[in-house]
Amino acid sequence: MKYLVTAGLIAAAPFVAAPTFAQGAPVDPTAMVDAFEGVFGVQNGFRRSGARGVCASGTFVGTKEAKGLSSASAFSGKPVPVTVRFSIGGGNPKAPENASTVRGMALQFNLPKNEQWLMANINTPVFTAATPESMLAFLQARKPDPATGKPNPDLIKATFEKYPDQKAQPAYLASVDAAASFGAQNYWGVNGFYLVNAKGKKQPIKWVFEPVSGVEGIPKDKLATTPTMFLNDELRARVAKAPVEFRFMAQLADANDVINSAVTPLPAERKKVSLGTLKVTKVEAEGSATCNDINFDPNVLPKGVEPSNDPILEARSGAYAVSQGRRLSGN
Ligand code: HEM
Repeated sequence: MKYLVTAGLIAAAPFVAAPTFAQGAPVDPTAMVDAFEGVFGVQNGFRRSGARGVCASGTFVGTKEAKGLSSASAFSGKPVPVTVRFSIGGGNPKAPENASTVRGMALQFNLPKNEQWLMANINTPVFTAATPESMLAFLQARKPDPATGKPNPDLIKATFEKYPDQKAQPAYLASVDAAASFGAQNYWGVNGFYLVNAKGKKQPIKWVFEPVSGVEGIPKDKLATTPTMFLNDELRARVAKAPVEFRFMAQLADANDVINSAVTPLPAERKKVSLGTLKVTKVEAEGSATCNDINFDPNVLPKGVEPSNDPILEARSGAYAVSQGRRLSGN
């Protein structure tokens, strides 16, 4: 499958038709977190996804256009302090970084009057699954079989056939180079949201943080000689030289566009506007506890931003809370 990567958004034939997937059965968040542990084991004290990561901080300044679209105080035009966490997808705290797998950038906007805006974005424009039921099945299919110590390939194949929504993310990852830097990736929100302005007008959007210095990947022939862990140190060295900047871009959906599917990007031709610039100015030391207490629950939104009814978005709060509860109690 060929993807067109254009200024951070992908357009590909399977997405144009905007496939819709049934909502599926609801999933108990405890079962979801158990399923992560089934794949990665119980890594005491670590996030059940995004286990390996590094905490950072910086500031965000919103644009005039953003202020017109949303009354959120993040878009006042004044600098807002932001706590940032970059991570590797999944629950393995030693996940090798010389491979094209998911990278995350989670943000906590520390807004006036103790308001917060939390989000956790990833470097693929589509998520693993369209529904919680499909996500659970995806994880369960990857639990190592006790007889072989490896996932059962027949179960993985059968799950892909039952849940075709699971095909988009691996196809995308296979089409791009592994991240050469946390500071040089696009990070998509993947879920849809609404911006609500002072007059109460609601604009459906999907967002992406685009690195101002461009995307950098590791060429496939260099992967074998790339260290398995380098991203945290690389980011620290990069930020020591100059702040790493990302443009916070909103893609404006039309009324009939699908915004409640995490595997269906908006049509590439939809207008994009800059909501502001995030500057990462400091990276914490390896193992710093600064971000430990934060659960980047993407449903913690400021006034002026509202969630779509994407079932994946809804399922995230419960799973993040269960994971946070387990890891902060030492499990
Ligand atoms: C049903 C779907 C999902 C489930 C069950 C799930 C589950 C989790 C869990 C359990 C954590 C660890 C939370 C903690 O201990 O603080 C986590 C972290 C994370 N998730 Fe998800 N997730 C889902 C969807 C998504 C989506 C759609 C995205 C991207 C848009 C995403 C991006 C991330 C990132 C970047 C982190 C690491 C955040 C950090 O640095 O603390 N997840 N996820």
